[in-house]
Amino acid sequence: MSSSSFAPPTVAENIMRLQAYVPGKPAEEVQRELGLTSIVKLASNENPLGPSPKAQEAIQAMLSRIHIYPDGSAHELRTALAESLSVDPNSLVFGNGSDDIIHLLGVTFLGPGDTVLQSDPSFVRYEAAAILNEVECIEVPCTSSWDCDLDAMLAKVDASTRLVFLANPNNPTGTAIKSDDLDAFVSQLPERVILVLDEAYYEYAKDFDWYPDSVKWVKQERNVVILRTFSKAYGLAGLRVGYGIMRPEMTQWLERTREPFNVNLLAQAAAVAALHDDEFLQRTITTNRQGLETIGAALRQMNLQYVPSYGNFLFINVGVDGKVVADSLLHKGVIVRYSPHFKGPTWIRVTVGTADENTRFLTALQEVLA
Ligand SMILES: Cc1ncc(COP(=O)(O)O)c(C=O)c1O
Repeated sequence: MSSSSFAPPTVAENIMRLQAYVPGKPAEEVQRELGLTSIVKLASNENPLGPSPKAQEAIQAMLSRIHIYPDGSAHELRTALAESLSVDPNSLVFGNGSDDIIHLLGVTFLGPGDTVLQSDPSFVRYEAAAILNEVECIEVPCTSSWDCDLDAMLAKVDASTRLVFLANPNNPTGTAIKSDDLDAFVSQLPERVILVLDEAYYEYAKDFDWYPDSVKWVKQERNVVILRTFSKAYGLAGLRVGYGIMRPEMTQWLERTREPFNVNLLAQAAAVAALHDDEFLQRTITTNRQGLETIGAALRQMNLQYVPSYGNFLFINVGVDGKVVADSLLHKGVIVRYSPHFKGPTWIRVTVGTADENTRFLTALQEVLA
Protein backbone atom coordinates (compact mmCIF):
# COMPACT_ATOMS: atom_id res chain seq x y z
CA MET A 1 0.00 0.00 0.00
CA SER A 2 1.41 3.41 -0.90
CA SER A 3 1.74 5.99 1.86
CA SER A 4 -0.53 8.33 -0.14
CA SER A 5 -3.53 6.28 0.94
CA PHE A 6 -3.21 7.56 4.50
CA ALA A 7 -5.17 10.73 5.22
CA PRO A 8 -2.98 13.47 6.72
CA PRO A 9 -3.53 14.15 10.44
CA THR A 10 -6.16 16.70 11.37
CA VAL A 11 -5.45 19.47 13.87
CA ALA A 12 -7.48 21.34 16.45
CA GLU A 13 -9.56 24.32 15.34
CA ASN A 14 -7.24 26.85 17.04
CA ILE A 15 -4.20 25.47 15.19
CA MET A 16 -6.10 25.89 11.91
CA ARG A 17 -6.64 29.55 12.78
CA LEU A 18 -2.93 30.14 13.44
CA GLN A 19 -1.00 31.73 10.60
CA ALA A 20 2.61 30.91 9.91
CA TYR A 21 4.78 33.96 10.58
CA VAL A 22 5.96 35.62 7.38
CA PRO A 23 9.40 37.11 8.04
CA GLY A 24 11.09 39.84 6.01
CA LYS A 25 12.51 38.23 2.86
CA PRO A 26 16.18 37.26 3.17
CA ALA A 27 18.42 39.36 0.89
CA GLU A 28 19.80 36.21 -0.80
CA GLU A 29 16.28 35.10 -1.80
CA VAL A 30 15.49 38.46 -3.39
CA GLN A 31 18.86 38.46 -5.13
CA ARG A 32 18.21 34.98 -6.53
CA GLU A 33 14.60 35.59 -7.54
CA LEU A 34 15.04 38.98 -9.15
CA GLY A 35 18.57 38.56 -10.47
CA LEU A 36 19.72 41.70 -8.66
CA THR A 37 23.35 42.21 -7.73
CA SER A 38 22.99 44.39 -4.66
CA ILE A 39 20.27 44.24 -2.06
CA VAL A 40 19.52 46.45 0.92
CA LYS A 41 17.41 44.74 3.57
CA LEU A 42 15.53 47.22 5.72
CA ALA A 43 12.65 44.94 6.63
CA SER A 44 13.35 43.24 9.96
CA ASN A 45 14.74 45.97 12.24
CA GLU A 46 18.16 44.36 12.35
CA ASN A 47 21.34 46.24 13.21
CA PRO A 48 22.85 47.75 10.02
CA LEU A 49 26.31 47.81 11.65
CA GLY A 50 26.39 44.02 11.89
CA PRO A 51 27.03 42.09 15.11
CA SER A 52 28.93 43.41 18.11
CA PRO A 53 32.66 42.75 17.38
CA LYS A 54 33.15 41.50 20.95
CA ALA A 55 30.34 39.00 20.41
CA GLN A 56 32.05 37.76 17.24
CA GLU A 57 35.30 37.22 19.15
CA ALA A 58 33.46 35.35 21.91
CA ILE A 59 31.88 33.02 19.33
CA GLN A 60 35.26 32.28 17.77
CA ALA A 61 36.62 31.38 21.20
CA MET A 62 33.67 29.06 21.85
CA LEU A 63 33.70 27.17 18.53
CA SER A 64 35.78 24.29 19.86
CA ARG A 65 33.20 23.67 22.58
CA ILE A 66 30.02 23.24 20.55
CA HIS A 67 30.05 19.48 21.16
CA ILE A 68 28.84 20.12 24.72
CA TYR A 69 25.34 21.16 25.74
CA PRO A 70 24.88 24.80 26.67
CA ASP A 71 24.45 25.75 30.31
CA GLY A 72 20.69 25.30 30.75
CA SER A 73 20.61 27.96 33.45
CA ALA A 74 22.73 30.43 31.40
CA HIS A 75 24.66 31.15 34.59
CA GLU A 76 27.26 33.51 33.18
CA LEU A 77 24.76 35.51 31.16
CA ARG A 78 22.34 35.53 34.09
CA THR A 79 25.00 36.85 36.46
CA ALA A 80 26.20 39.52 34.02
CA LEU A 81 22.68 40.76 33.27
CA ALA A 82 21.52 40.65 36.89
CA GLU A 83 24.46 42.83 37.77
CA SER A 84 23.92 45.31 34.97
CA LEU A 85 20.18 45.56 35.74
CA SER A 86 20.61 45.40 39.54
CA VAL A 87 18.03 42.63 39.81
CA ASP A 88 17.86 39.25 41.52
CA PRO A 89 19.40 36.66 39.13
CA ASN A 90 16.28 34.55 39.72
CA SER A 91 14.13 37.23 38.15
CA LEU A 92 15.53 36.44 34.68
CA VAL A 93 14.30 33.89 32.14
CA PHE A 94 16.20 33.39 28.89
CA GLY A 95 14.68 32.53 25.55
CA ASN A 96 15.50 31.56 22.00
CA GLY A 97 14.83 35.20 21.15
CA SER A 98 12.25 37.19 23.11
CA ASP A 99 9.70 35.50 20.81
CA ASP A 100 10.32 32.37 22.83
CA ILE A 101 9.40 34.17 26.07
CA ILE A 102 6.15 35.43 24.51
CA HIS A 103 5.36 31.82 23.63
CA LEU A 104 6.28 30.62 27.13
CA LEU A 105 4.13 33.29 28.78
CA GLY A 106 1.14 32.09 26.79
CA VAL A 107 1.73 28.41 27.49
CA THR A 108 2.39 29.05 31.18
CA PHE A 109 -0.25 31.57 32.15
CA LEU A 110 -3.19 31.25 29.74
CA GLY A 111 -6.04 28.88 30.49
CA PRO A 112 -9.71 28.38 29.65
CA GLY A 113 -11.78 31.55 30.01
CA ASP A 114 -8.76 33.89 29.95
CA THR A 115 -8.29 36.66 27.42
CA VAL A 116 -5.28 38.54 26.06
CA LEU A 117 -5.35 42.30 25.52
CA GLN A 118 -3.12 44.21 23.12
CA SER A 119 -2.88 47.49 21.29
CA ASP A 120 -3.43 47.34 17.54
CA PRO A 121 -1.31 47.42 15.43
CA SER A 122 1.48 45.82 17.38
CA PHE A 123 3.80 42.83 17.22
CA VAL A 124 1.94 39.90 15.67
CA ARG A 125 3.26 37.21 18.00
CA TYR A 126 1.01 38.27 20.90
CA GLU A 127 -2.09 37.20 19.02
CA ALA A 128 -0.39 33.95 18.03
CA ALA A 129 0.21 33.16 21.73
CA ALA A 130 -3.50 33.72 22.39
CA ILE A 131 -4.70 31.55 19.51
CA LEU A 132 -2.25 28.77 20.35
CA ASN A 133 -3.63 28.63 23.87
CA GLU A 134 -7.26 28.81 22.72
CA VAL A 135 -8.04 32.18 24.22
CA GLU A 136 -9.44 35.33 22.67
CA CYS A 137 -7.09 38.20 21.81
CA ILE A 138 -8.79 41.57 22.22
CA GLU A 139 -7.19 44.24 20.08
CA VAL A 140 -7.64 47.89 21.03
CA PRO A 141 -7.03 50.28 18.11
CA CYS A 142 -4.30 52.91 18.48
CA THR A 143 -5.26 56.58 18.51
CA SER A 144 -5.27 58.54 15.24
CA SER A 145 -1.63 59.51 15.94
CA TRP A 146 -0.78 55.79 16.24
CA ASP A 147 -0.20 55.99 20.01
CA CYS A 148 -1.38 53.18 22.29
CA ASP A 149 -4.78 54.15 23.65
CA LEU A 150 -4.18 53.26 27.28
CA ASP A 151 -7.57 54.54 28.49
CA ALA A 152 -9.39 52.44 25.92
CA MET A 153 -7.27 49.46 26.92
CA LEU A 154 -8.09 49.93 30.60
CA ALA A 155 -11.77 50.06 29.70
CA LYS A 156 -11.41 46.60 28.16
CA VAL A 157 -9.80 45.02 31.21
CA ASP A 158 -12.21 42.67 32.96
CA ALA A 159 -12.19 39.53 35.10
CA SER A 160 -11.07 37.43 32.12
CA THR A 161 -8.00 39.54 31.29
CA ARG A 162 -4.83 37.60 31.96
CA LEU A 163 -2.03 38.94 29.74
CA VAL A 164 -1.80 42.54 28.56
CA PHE A 165 0.88 43.14 25.93
CA LEU A 166 2.37 46.59 25.39
CA ALA A 167 5.38 47.04 23.13
CA ASN A 168 7.37 50.11 24.17
CA PRO A 169 8.54 51.38 21.70
CA ASN A 170 5.83 49.79 19.60
CA ASN A 171 6.41 47.85 16.39
CA PRO A 172 5.41 48.85 13.67
CA THR A 173 4.50 52.41 14.71
CA GLY A 174 7.67 53.40 16.59
CA THR A 175 5.61 55.29 19.19
CA ALA A 176 6.54 55.08 22.88
CA ILE A 177 4.61 55.32 26.12
CA LYS A 178 5.89 57.85 28.64
CA SER A 179 6.66 57.08 32.25
CA ASP A 180 3.75 59.05 33.80
CA ASP A 181 1.20 57.44 31.49
CA LEU A 182 2.52 53.95 32.12
CA ASP A 183 2.65 54.58 35.88
CA ALA A 184 -1.04 55.48 35.84
CA PHE A 185 -1.84 52.44 33.70
CA VAL A 186 0.07 49.99 35.91
CA SER A 187 -1.52 51.32 39.08
CA GLN A 188 -5.01 50.66 37.69
CA LEU A 189 -4.46 47.08 36.60
CA PRO A 190 -6.08 44.40 38.75
CA GLU A 191 -3.68 42.06 40.53
CA ARG A 192 -4.65 39.06 38.41
CA VAL A 193 -3.46 40.73 35.22
CA ILE A 194 0.10 40.15 34.02
CA LEU A 195 1.38 43.19 32.14
CA VAL A 196 3.98 42.27 29.52
CA LEU A 197 6.10 45.27 28.55
CA ASP A 198 7.90 44.31 25.37
CA GLU A 199 11.04 46.44 25.31
CA ALA A 200 12.70 44.86 22.26
CA TYR A 201 13.78 48.38 21.21
CA TYR A 202 14.71 49.53 24.75
CA GLU A 203 18.29 50.52 23.91
CA TYR A 204 17.11 53.06 21.32
CA ALA A 205 14.70 54.78 23.73
CA LYS A 206 16.31 54.38 27.15
CA ASP A 207 18.14 57.73 27.13
CA PHE A 208 14.97 59.83 26.89
CA ASP A 209 14.29 61.12 30.38
CA TRP A 210 10.58 60.26 30.09
CA TYR A 211 11.23 56.63 29.15
CA PRO A 212 9.80 54.39 31.90
CA ASP A 213 12.06 52.67 34.39
CA SER A 214 10.01 49.49 34.12
CA VAL A 215 12.36 47.35 36.22
CA LYS A 216 11.07 49.19 39.29
CA TRP A 217 7.73 47.36 38.97
CA VAL A 218 9.49 44.01 39.07
CA LYS A 219 11.35 45.13 42.18
CA GLN A 220 8.02 46.20 43.70
CA GLU A 221 6.79 42.65 43.07
CA ARG A 222 4.12 43.72 40.62
CA ASN A 223 2.88 41.20 38.08
CA VAL A 224 4.87 42.86 35.32
CA VAL A 225 7.12 41.09 32.80
CA ILE A 226 9.71 43.02 30.81
CA LEU A 227 10.95 41.54 27.55
CA ARG A 228 14.28 42.51 26.06
CA THR A 229 16.45 41.07 23.32
CA PHE A 230 19.95 40.86 21.92
CA SER A 231 18.47 40.80 18.39
CA LYS A 232 18.23 44.53 17.79
CA ALA A 233 20.79 46.99 19.20
CA TYR A 234 23.33 44.25 19.98
CA GLY A 235 23.10 42.88 16.45
CA LEU A 236 22.58 39.21 17.36
CA ALA A 237 19.23 38.45 15.65
CA GLY A 238 20.65 35.37 13.94
CA LEU A 239 21.75 33.80 17.21
CA ARG A 240 18.35 34.09 18.94
CA VAL A 241 18.71 35.25 22.50
CA GLY A 242 16.24 37.32 24.47
CA TYR A 243 15.09 37.46 28.07
CA GLY A 244 12.27 38.28 30.42
CA ILE A 245 12.59 40.15 33.71
CA MET A 246 9.91 39.33 36.28
CA ARG A 247 9.44 38.52 39.94
CA PRO A 248 11.00 35.15 40.87
CA GLU A 249 7.56 33.77 41.81
CA MET A 250 6.80 33.99 38.08
CA THR A 251 10.11 32.76 36.68
CA GLN A 252 9.69 29.47 38.55
CA TRP A 253 6.70 28.57 36.33
CA LEU A 254 8.41 29.56 33.10
CA GLU A 255 11.38 27.44 34.12
CA ARG A 256 9.00 24.47 34.00
CA THR A 257 7.62 25.19 30.52
CA ARG A 258 10.93 26.30 28.98
CA GLU A 259 12.95 23.84 26.90
CA PRO A 260 16.03 23.06 29.00
CA PHE A 261 18.58 24.11 26.35
CA ASN A 262 16.60 26.83 24.56
CA VAL A 263 19.54 29.27 24.37
CA ASN A 264 22.51 27.76 22.59
CA LEU A 265 26.14 27.85 23.65
CA LEU A 266 27.31 30.41 21.09
CA ALA A 267 24.36 32.68 21.77
CA GLN A 268 25.06 32.74 25.50
CA ALA A 269 28.76 33.53 25.02
CA ALA A 270 28.01 36.21 22.43
CA ALA A 271 25.34 37.85 24.59
CA VAL A 272 27.70 38.16 27.57
CA ALA A 273 30.34 39.76 25.34
CA ALA A 274 27.84 42.06 23.62
CA LEU A 275 26.59 43.25 26.97
CA HIS A 276 30.07 44.59 27.67
CA ASP A 277 30.52 46.14 24.23
CA ASP A 278 29.62 49.70 25.19
CA GLU A 279 31.42 51.21 22.23
CA PHE A 280 29.37 49.19 19.75
CA LEU A 281 26.09 49.91 21.53
CA GLN A 282 26.80 53.63 21.57
CA ARG A 283 27.79 53.61 17.90
CA THR A 284 24.57 51.75 17.11
CA ILE A 285 22.44 54.28 18.97
CA THR A 286 24.20 57.26 17.37
CA THR A 287 23.99 55.79 13.86
CA ASN A 288 20.30 55.14 14.40
CA ARG A 289 19.58 58.63 15.66
CA GLN A 290 21.39 60.18 12.69
CA GLY A 291 19.55 57.84 10.32
CA LEU A 292 16.17 58.75 11.80
CA GLU A 293 16.99 62.45 11.31
CA THR A 294 18.18 61.98 7.72
CA ILE A 295 15.22 59.89 6.65
CA GLY A 296 12.79 62.14 8.54
CA ALA A 297 14.15 65.27 6.84
CA ALA A 298 13.93 63.66 3.38
CA LEU A 299 10.37 62.47 4.02
CA ARG A 300 9.34 65.98 5.07
CA GLN A 301 10.81 67.30 1.82
CA MET A 302 8.80 64.68 -0.05
CA ASN A 303 5.70 65.75 1.87
CA LEU A 304 5.26 62.25 3.21
CA GLN A 305 3.72 61.70 6.62
CA TYR A 306 5.61 59.54 9.13
CA VAL A 307 5.39 58.77 12.83
CA PRO A 308 8.26 60.11 14.99
CA SER A 309 10.04 56.93 16.00
CA TYR A 310 11.79 55.84 19.19
CA GLY A 311 12.91 52.54 17.67
CA ASN A 312 15.27 51.68 14.79
CA PHE A 313 12.60 51.92 12.11
CA LEU A 314 10.10 54.39 10.68
CA PHE A 315 6.41 53.97 9.92
CA ILE A 316 5.70 55.93 6.74
CA ASN A 317 2.50 56.86 4.92
CA VAL A 318 3.41 56.57 1.24
CA GLY A 319 -0.04 57.86 0.26
CA VAL A 320 -0.74 54.98 -2.16
CA ASP A 321 -1.06 51.21 -1.75
CA GLY A 322 1.76 50.26 0.64
CA LYS A 323 1.99 46.74 -0.77
CA VAL A 324 2.52 48.05 -4.30
CA VAL A 325 5.21 50.46 -3.08
CA ALA A 326 6.96 47.71 -1.07
CA ASP A 327 6.89 45.42 -4.14
CA SER A 328 8.26 48.17 -6.40
CA LEU A 329 11.04 48.90 -3.91
CA LEU A 330 11.83 45.19 -3.83
CA HIS A 331 12.36 45.25 -7.60
CA LYS A 332 14.89 48.02 -7.03
CA GLY A 333 16.69 45.86 -4.49
CA VAL A 334 15.35 47.58 -1.36
CA ILE A 335 13.43 45.30 1.00
CA VAL A 336 11.00 47.10 3.33
CA ARG A 337 8.00 45.81 5.23
CA TYR A 338 4.34 46.04 4.34
CA SER A 339 1.73 44.02 6.20
CA PRO A 340 -2.05 44.00 6.36
CA HIS A 341 -1.52 43.72 10.13
CA PHE A 342 -0.29 47.34 10.07
CA LYS A 343 -3.93 48.42 9.71
CA GLY A 344 -2.85 51.22 7.43
CA PRO A 345 -3.06 50.20 3.77
CA THR A 346 -0.87 53.09 2.66
CA TRP A 347 1.80 52.60 5.33
CA ILE A 348 5.15 50.82 5.13
CA ARG A 349 7.81 50.21 7.78
CA VAL A 350 11.46 50.76 6.99
CA THR A 351 14.42 49.90 9.20
CA VAL A 352 17.04 52.62 9.67
CA GLY A 353 20.17 51.48 7.84
CA THR A 354 23.68 52.83 7.37
CA ALA A 355 23.96 56.27 5.75
CA ASP A 356 24.44 54.60 2.33
CA GLU A 357 21.50 52.26 2.82
CA ASN A 358 19.26 55.14 3.86
CA THR A 359 20.22 57.08 0.73
CA ARG A 360 19.55 54.01 -1.41
CA PHE A 361 16.10 53.64 0.18
CA LEU A 362 15.22 57.32 -0.21
CA THR A 363 16.33 57.42 -3.85
CA ALA A 364 14.36 54.27 -4.66
CA LEU A 365 11.29 55.61 -2.83
CA GLN A 366 11.45 58.85 -4.80
CA GLU A 367 11.68 56.92 -8.08
CA VAL A 368 8.82 54.59 -7.14
CA LEU A 369 6.51 57.44 -6.12
CA ALA A 370 7.43 59.66 -9.10
C1 LIG B 1 8.19 44.33 19.51
C2 LIG B 1 8.98 43.09 19.25
N1 LIG B 1 9.03 42.14 20.19
C3 LIG B 1 9.73 41.02 20.03
C4 LIG B 1 10.42 40.80 18.86
C5 LIG B 1 11.14 39.47 18.71
O1 LIG B 1 12.49 39.64 18.79
P1 LIG B 1 13.47 38.39 19.04
O2 LIG B 1 12.64 37.15 19.10
O3 LIG B 1 14.41 38.41 17.92
O4 LIG B 1 14.10 38.68 20.37
C6 LIG B 1 10.40 41.74 17.84
C7 LIG B 1 11.11 41.48 16.57
O5 LIG B 1 10.96 42.12 15.59
C8 LIG B 1 9.66 42.92 18.04
O6 LIG B 1 9.58 43.85 17.09
